[in-house]
Amino acid sequence: MASFFDMSLDAKIEALKAEFEKEASSLPAEQLRPRFVGPSGKVRALFGELKTLPPDHKKAAGEKLNALKNDLEARIEALASAKAAVGPQRAVDLTLPGRAPELGRRHPVYRTWDEIVRVFSRLGFDVVYGPEVEVEANNFEALNIPVDHPARDSFDTFYVEPPYLLRSHTSPVQIRTMKARKPPIRVLCPGKVFRPDKPDAGHSPMFHQVEGLLVGPGVTFAHLKGVLDLFVKSMWGPATTVRFRPSFFPFTEPSAEVDVTCFICGAKGCPACKQSGWVEILGSGMVHPKVLANCGIDPEENTGFAFGMGVERIAMLRWGIPDIRRFTENHFAFLRQF
Ligand code: DAH
Repeated sequence: MASFFDMSLDAKIEALKAEFEKEASSLPAEQLRPRFVGPSGKVRALFGELKTLPPDHKKAAGEKLNALKNDLEARIEALASAKAAVGPQRAVDLTLPGRAPELGRRHPVYRTWDEIVRVFSRLGFDVVYGPEVEVEANNFEALNIPVDHPARDSFDTFYVEPPYLLRSHTSPVQIRTMKARKPPIRVLCPGKVFRPDKPDAGHSPMFHQVEGLLVGPGVTFAHLKGVLDLFVKSMWGPATTVRFRPSFFPFTEPSAEVDVTCFICGAKGCPACKQSGWVEILGSGMVHPKVLANCGIDPEENTGFAFGMGVERIAMLRWGIPDIRRFTENHFAFLRQF
């Protein structure tokens, strides 16, 4: 039988439920929680009345209040998660400007690489690639650099495990190409090269080169000059010219270093060209007959020219970058300028 006290508690519980339903229709879960089930909420206040009940009624009354508390907590949780699913009102403000995704850009070294490739592509050169891990024979011997040759010192390199090494130049791609193709051959070989140089403003253990090779019957030094002259004019404008200085490379004979009229100052003289009006941009020459023969090409029937240039060097000259290490430091302040 329900006692007077129980009746009263039941009535209070019903009244509280009705109050909750009324408020739940207008208040958000965050406000309902402290008002009803928080430490100073209305349910807690009813628990406080338990001590006024006779001992034999306390258990049943406590269970009813616990049920009420659980009930209201569940209702508040349900309201909160329903709202989270819908999202706050007006979450999308269509009048705000959009968020522009940050666009990346081409690295200055690869921009330069692309420009070099574009010019030679127009002259009919195919772009071919070789592996960065090479065999010693392709990096040295086939290029007429024998084991004890002093020129080997200047190409000293990172050895992986004999006979493998990190290629010290892109010239071994000449060998791979001549072994795989028959003349006429006309290829451009861009790629990474590695040398155990201590990093400083002008040296980096990794940098990029672009190698060129043209082989066929009757190819002469005049063709080399013509192609390189066209190249520098396409890169830096029609007023640009080239100058050949005799030099030595084991894989070419004769060999030449090639200078270009300073494209920074227009050959007037500036810090980039050390006031000379000329900057050195590449090594070149006529492919040594032994190198042709090493690749199974008859040097009596075919001749060829080759050249190799450093991509970083050209980029540094072009933008006045004083230190090669800037290219690999990944500082946005530097890279955003290009
Ligand atoms: N391989 C040379 C170097 O790394 C550059 C070079 C010079 C390439 C003359 C050539 C060439 O093809 O004919 O310094």
